[in-house]
Amino acid sequence: MQKLIIKGNRKLSGKISISGSKNATLPILAASILANQVRLKNIPLVKDIFTMVELLNFIGVKTKIIRKKNTIEILNNKKNINTLAPYKLVKTMRAGVLVLGSLLTKYGKAKVSLPGGCAIGTRPVDLHLFALKKLGAKIKIKNGYIIAQAKKGLKGAIIHFPSISVGATENALLAASKAEGNTILKNCAIEPEIKDLIIFLKKLGSNINLKGRTITIKESKMKSSKIIHEIIFDRIELGTYMIAGALLAKKNIVIDKIDPKIIESEINILKKIGVQITKRKSSVVINNNKKLKNISITTKPYPGFPTDLQAQLMVLLTQVNGVSKIKENIFENRFMHVQELKRMGAQIEIKNKTAIIRGPTKLNGAEVMATDLRASVSLVLAGLVADNRTIINRIYHLDRGYELLEKKLKNCKAEIKRI
Ligand code: UD1
Repeated sequence: MQKLIIKGNRKLSGKISISGSKNATLPILAASILANQVRLKNIPLVKDIFTMVELLNFIGVKTKIIRKKNTIEILNNKKNINTLAPYKLVKTMRAGVLVLGSLLTKYGKAKVSLPGGCAIGTRPVDLHLFALKKLGAKIKIKNGYIIAQAKKGLKGAIIHFPSISVGATENALLAASKAEGNTILKNCAIEPEIKDLIIFLKKLGSNINLKGRTITIKESKMKSSKIIHEIIFDRIELGTYMIAGALLAKKNIVIDKIDPKIIESEINILKKIGVQITKRKSSVVINNNKKLKNISITTKPYPGFPTDLQAQLMVLLTQVNGVSKIKENIFENRFMHVQELKRMGAQIEIKNKTAIIRGPTKLNGAEVMATDLRASVSLVLAGLVADNRTIINRIYHLDRGYELLEKKLKNCKAEIKRI
């Protein structure tokens, strides 16, 4: 099994280019089921994308990844499509459940494996099914599968989500985009990745309007012409490298291929901690930081501080002066990195949903174990700032979502290698 070995406490300098967003590519790949022909540009070459592509191929939608160009070509011209998403492909990647909305609205039926539990929490799909039922789908759960039918097609409806969910908003958008009549989705997630999905669906012919947390989808005819779409940058990857810069920038680190407007809240929080950030049109510069101060924050749906950056921020907070607090409000079990960070010398205490971090503490390299995607990258950040050598096991979690991680860090003079 592969491991990462990091020699810590090396200052970083140089430039990092951010890849396309994994969390935008996944729902757009699911939306491609609704199209005839698609070219997706700026896709990240990471495991979750390969799994989704495998799922599309299984269904009968032909896909071809052109690695050199970070592009996927998609052709959906088969009459007999397989409306099944099997357990083996959905179990490793929860976003597989997003094909449900597209298959159901286009083919009137779908059988999709329940994604099941996950290390960071129970992660049910009740909100996805709630929305699809409101659109007229008949749904039953049998042998671990969601079996959904809409023999006469889905019908537009007014749907008010009882709580905000990224995936449920995406599934509802996909399903409603080919429904008969108009749909109004209220209390939606409005992450930039959802906005990217809306841009894609509009290119496909959907008539969609987003205002506040309400999305209106008017009945429309899908276009049959080829859709070309460039995926938005990965704001979580950007946040991760901004934190790496905040921890270790020698003089400065330039992070480009981004739009700073999309990550205002993250930038503001880092600035509040004392990180020196200069915003440019399509890049940010992280300067060498002298004094960093403590902070209390809560993870929230966008535009709040993202749960997907909570573990990385925690590493930064081990290095600032004073007691910081992070309340994890999205997932119930997303502090698994804490035990590993403590083994490296961090002083962190968990009380209910809140992590209390005392800093600054000198971290020391150790052999640690990655538990999920974002927890893994927090251990990389901890390894970079720690004294001596850190060995990270189970890095397959990292490969699910970070493209060229070692290469990007090595370009900034980090000592990191995979064995
Ligand atoms: C997406 C992101 C993930 C991110 C999360 C929150 C993708 C592929 N993944 O995951 O990286 O951490 O948003 O920003 O885009 N919930 C229910 N019932 C449901 C659905 C969700 O109770 O039917 C709960 C979840 O357990 C969680 C909360 O709602 O507590 C938010 O989850 P959700 O926004 O749906 O996350 P995902 O779409 O799974």
